[in-house]
Order: sequence, then structure tokens, then C-alpha cells
Amino acid sequence: MASKNIYILGIESSCDDTAAAILHNGKILSNIVATQEVHQQYGGVVPELASRAHQQNIVPVVHQAIAMANIDKKDISAIAFTRGPGLMGSLLVGTSFAKSLSLGLRVPLIEVNHMQAHILAHFIEEENSKKPSFPFLALTISGGHTQIVKVSNYFEMEVIGETTDDAVGEAFDKSAKILGLPYPGGPLIDRYAQEGNPKSFPFPNPKVPDLNFSFSGFKTSVLYFIQKKTKENPDFIAENLKDICASIQFSLVRILMDKLRKAVKQTGINQIAIAGGVSANSGIRVALMEAEKLYNWKCFIPKFEYTTDNAAMIAIAGHYKFLNQDFSNFSITAEARYKF
Ligand code: KG4
Ligand code: ZN
Repeated sequence: MASKNIYILGIESSCDDTAAAILHNGKILSNIVATQEVHQQYGGVVPELASRAHQQNIVPVVHQAIAMANIDKKDISAIAFTRGPGLMGSLLVGTSFAKSLSLGLRVPLIEVNHMQAHILAHFIEEENSKKPSFPFLALTISGGHTQIVKVSNYFEMEVIGETTDDAVGEAFDKSAKILGLPYPGGPLIDRYAQEGNPKSFPFPNPKVPDLNFSFSGFKTSVLYFIQKKTKENPDFIAENLKDICASIQFSLVRILMDKLRKAVKQTGINQIAIAGGVSANSGIRVALMEAEKLYNWKCFIPKFEYTTDNAAMIAIAGHYKFLNQDFSNFSITAEARYKF
């Protein structure tokens, strides 16, 4: 079945983005993301609203991906979809849609682990892109996960450290909520942080053993700090927003970098790739570029469009599974806590 022309349709619906992409031999032909605005007013993703919006978006999004790729649906070699982890109601929409389309087009179905896909986004074929070689360490940082993963091959991945409670993206978003910023607050903290002084307000660095993380105490310390300061001065947030954001970002990036240094020391691997929504953060990007010079690391930072949830990353994972003829059968179900 090895073919010179491999066209993979990737479908992603694990959280609040409905996305579809077409890859031809690992290169992007189209990459469509419909972000659901409906959650903003609630300060977080509302699962029931997310699955309803996926149902509305999935047909037009897949249509658009095929049209923009300028291919016929008969050209599609296989359909890759996110099986998990994610919100069950959201995953079900993508899983059922992928199954039916695969049946209709009589092409193989390929299940993809969302977190593996975030890492494999580094292997999307791009001009002048440098790819990590195996083994490397991946720091996967998103709204749902914070992991350090030892990547020995495309699908040989071992989680060597992870959060014991909140994800770092949640720490960004919940801190932003405390400051009265809309959801998702991570990008806003990043934007304000760039004009603030990161040393203005010290936040604690939690003591967590091994390569694990904990962020729930961080959020609480931001809450207590803001409550105390606004009691003294009701305009404290407005008057200090940039400095508060810079201090929060500085502290969160320091927590991530401290564990990465430990992981490099422990494994002897000095190639680092970051993945997931928080890898869009300017603070972590700068810290990694500095680490290249300071510690002689080789760091891999994804393009912005491959950091937050997208279907190009699902399609590239599907591409490598297609090469291995690693197909799923139709009894497959969505898996909210899918591990690898
Ligand atoms: O990977 P992703 O799109 O979805 C999940 O699988 O969770 O990650 C979303 C997370 C959110 O918490 C969002 O606030 C965060 O990524 N994020 C950022 C930035 N851009 C997105 N956090 C900090 N700085 C950013 N620039
Ligand atoms: Zn994600």
C-alpha cells in the first residue's frame, strides 16, 4: 500500500477548537481552525457548549480544508482523528465524524493521541525547518497538560515528569481570571508581561520532587496576593497590570526551566522541543533561546500556528502511522483520559 502520494485528512475536536487539515507527504496543503468564541463569557470551556459547537462546525471545517487543499475527497489516503485525551463530548463528535467519513470513502481510519500529536508537530515538513533527532525531550505545556516526555522515536514516548494537579496553561488562565482578564488569559498575560517588570512581585517556586510539577498552590498565592493588595488599594490591578503579568509569567517560566534543567541533567539529553498552547509564550521562548547559549542545548520551538490546538499536528501523526500501516478498526471509541 506504500504510495508516493500520501494525503492525510486530520481532524481535531478534543477541546474548544474544531480543526481539519490536509497534509500531502507531510507538507501542509490546508490547516483550518474554528475557535469557539462562546466560552469567553464563562471564563472557561463549557463542555456541553463545546460539543454542540463542534457539531455545527465540523462539516464546514472539513469541507474548507479539502477545498483549500485543492484536492478531491477521493484523493484522501487516510483519516486521522484525535481519540483523546480531551473532553468526552467534544471527542465524540470528531471520532464519529472520522469513522463515518472513513467508511464512506473506504479509506483507513487512524487514531491519534492529542499529546503525541503536539510533539509530532515538529515533524511537519516545512522549508528550512530544523527537526529534532531522536532521542529528545519534549516539554508539553497546554491548558490540560504539563509533561516532560522522553521521545525515543515517533511513537516511543515516555512521560518522565508531569503535573500532580493543574496544568501550567491553567495557572496562566486562572491567574488571568483573578486579574479580571477574559478566557483564555494566557495570551493576554503574555502580551502585558512584555511591557512589565518581571521582578516587581515575587511568587513562590513550589517544591515538588523529581521531575513533577504542581501549579495549584501558585494560583492560590496569586489570589491571596491580589486580595491583600486590592484591600490596600482598590486600583492596584489597574495601576500595576503589566508588572503583575510580567511577574506571573517570569515565575511560571522559571518553574518550567528549573525542571527542564533537572531533566537534562538526569537523562543526558540536551535537545529540547516544546509543544502545546503555552509554547506560544514569549517568556518560555526567550528562556529556551538563552539556554541554547548558556548550556549548549539545542531547542526546537514550533511555529505559532502549530502551538495551540490544530489538525495539522493530528495529520502528521497520522502520516507516520500510515507509513507503519498502523490503522484503527471501527470499534474504536473516544478516550477522555487516553495515555501513551
Ligand atoms: O494546546 P492548547 O491549545 O489546548 C489544550 O490542549 O489545552 O493550549 C491552550 C492553553 C491555554 O491555557 C492558553 O491560555 C495557553 O495555552 N496559551 C498561552 C499562550 N498562548 C496560549 N499561555 C501563555 N502564553 C501564551 N502566549
Ligand atoms: Zn492541545
